[in-house]
Amino acid sequence: MSIIALIVAAGRGERAGQPGPKQYARLAGQTVLARSIHALAISKRISAILCVIHADDRVLYDRAIQEVPQRLRKKLRTPVIGGTTRQQSVMAGLEALAGTDCETVLIHDAARPFLSKALIERVVDAVPATGAAIPALPMTDTIKELDAAGTIAKTPDRALLRAVQTPQAFTFKLILGAHRAMVDRETTDDASLIEALGGRVMPVEGERDNIKLTTPEDFAVAELKLTETVSAMGYDVHAFGVGDHVTLAGVKIPHTRGVLAHSDGDVILHALSDAILGAIGVGDIGQHFPPSDPQWKDAPSSTFVAHAIKLLKEKGGALVNCDVTLLAEEPRIGKHREAMIDSLATITGIKKERIGLKATTTEKLGAIGRGEGLVAQVLCTLRLPRER
Ligand code: CTP
Ligand code: MG
Repeated sequence: MSIIALIVAAGRGERAGQPGPKQYARLAGQTVLARSIHALAISKRISAILCVIHADDRVLYDRAIQEVPQRLRKKLRTPVIGGTTRQQSVMAGLEALAGTDCETVLIHDAARPFLSKALIERVVDAVPATGAAIPALPMTDTIKELDAAGTIAKTPDRALLRAVQTPQAFTFKLILGAHRAMVDRETTDDASLIEALGGRVMPVEGERDNIKLTTPEDFAVAELKLTETVSAMGYDVHAFGVGDHVTLAGVKIPHTRGVLAHSDGDVILHALSDAILGAIGVGDIGQHFPPSDPQWKDAPSSTFVAHAIKLLKEKGGALVNCDVTLLAEEPRIGKHREAMIDSLATITGIKKERIGLKATTTEKLGAIGRGEGLVAQVLCTLRLPRER
């Protein structure tokens, strides 16, 4: 006899403002659905998981589950296709489980990825009492009920009110019977079907963190919660050589000399690449693009930055700002500043307001002061996933 989790993930997420269905949006590099599956699959109480998905989403689903560790992915059953309402999607999932050994079912919204193991324990342990247990939280706001005219009709006693969440746990036969009996009654909450049939539903303590991602603000808050700010710095030097220009921040600047380098010798983009690689602990630019490798000869250094940003994104990170200081007697960059900032914005995807670009001479001191070369220093701030 087993406890199975049914995850409903067939909605379109119209209020969420994401480019696609919200359950496939990424939070700190991982899809919402993979996070929800993970959270349920790590519970030893759950023996299998069945997802209900939209008919158009099979490719998205197959890709998302790759993010779940292999040992946990084994708990997943072949997904079933949902309906146009949440209730129809739940029904499709329950019907697919009918005739299996499912004794208890936990019905969960894919859009709630933050449930804890302890919450799963609480709902599962509370099922035997009445056959139905749901997470519930006391209200902090006072709730008002409106009349038909849209004015306030009454104020229910707050002490008796609860905000409810998923996973809602039921004896399988009880909830299947309730759904079959109540196909015509529209609801967004499975427990209400049991209530309508005169059954008893037990509340257990819900979790403030267990929010249902619904609006763009929910996504913004969740992203902040899952990531932290780190800073990183990069530094690069090149000596001048024969030539008629230097490339800085991807912009070709006419000069009486060039730089000695294997690539285009762009100190700013090299320092920037190193800062990003450093922030995610994956070595430095020399390891990723060895000067000995002919394919990088005269390569535009934007390639290096693009590679570093790709690795950063794969780790669920994002660049927040970058602040550049160039140390050089010559060339003066004043005339090119705007073009350099535009170029940095294009290469990094950061807004121009978050890009700093300063240049200084070294007052004729040292090698840079003697005009033998130039130096760039870049400080970056990034958001990276917190450790789980
Ligand atoms: N759901 C579903 N099938 C539907 C509608 C909703 O499986 N036809 C699922 C959603 O994927 C979500 C959960 O039910 O995990 C809760 O619903 P909701 O937050 O309303 O999600 P959406 O319906 O996708 O969002 P919206 O109402 O903003 O379009
Ligand atoms: Mg909906």
